[in-house]
Amino acid sequence: MNNRRPIIAGNWKMNKTIAEAVTLIRDIRSGVREIMTVETVVCPPFVALSAVAEVLSHSHIAVAAQNVFYEESGAFTGEISAPMLEGLVDYCIIGHSERRNIFGESDEWVNKKAKALLAHGIIPIICVGESLEQNQAGETDSFVRQQVTAALAGLNADQVASLVIAYEPIWAIGTGLTATPAEANRIIGLTIRGTIADLYGENTAQAVRIQYGGSAKPANIVELMMQPDIDGALVGGASLKADSFVDMVRKTAQLYR
Ligand code: 13P
Repeated sequence: MNNRRPIIAGNWKMNKTIAEAVTLIRDIRSGVREIMTVETVVCPPFVALSAVAEVLSHSHIAVAAQNVFYEESGAFTGEISAPMLEGLVDYCIIGHSERRNIFGESDEWVNKKAKALLAHGIIPIICVGESLEQNQAGETDSFVRQQVTAALAGLNADQVASLVIAYEPIWAIGTGLTATPAEANRIIGLTIRGTIADLYGENTAQAVRIQYGGSAKPANIVELMMQPDIDGALVGGASLKADSFVDMVRKTAQLYR
């Protein structure tokens, strides 16, 4: 057993109007009301953040943004900065593969975003993960190691210890395919935690919480969460319905009684 508090986060992606978001979060709130051992996080679209945060004002559920820009303010049409999110969210996803692949985000940007968030007291959830081609070519370890190293450049050990990292193999996102729990645990433990241990030492590596993402759902959450190095899940599709998301949080809580 380690000291890392499990963290189940729902990434709603580009789904839910404000009204739909409020309905969903009310249902989630009542479903996880008494669960304290597992940290529950929701990541609504930007426009629903205020409404969701208001519903959660007396709740222990945390709120995350799905993206941020690294500059503080200025002529960046359409972007949202860390100072705008400060006080509104606890966490912010950065480097999601959809942002890297569709919107061309580089490792350098992910690193700048991490620094911007930390400067404003927001915990980054840094996503990494390989493509199907890289996986089949046996490049997963070297690619993920390089992504982690680049994302953390210039951060100190205390900052790194506070982070959440999500290992999301791209081929498992929205496909129904999941990495086997043992393989996900190997990448998370040996590759990701191993990289952090090499860079910052074993204590820091043992403090970082690392989630698995990619077709996580009620049917596989227990097996995933039973793996010693997997500290949580970043859930896409299965987080869009209160029933399935609450089920995942509750099943995880049963493992941590
Ligand atoms: P799915 O759970 O829909 O595969 O999405 C995973 C994901 O990308 C979470 O960020």
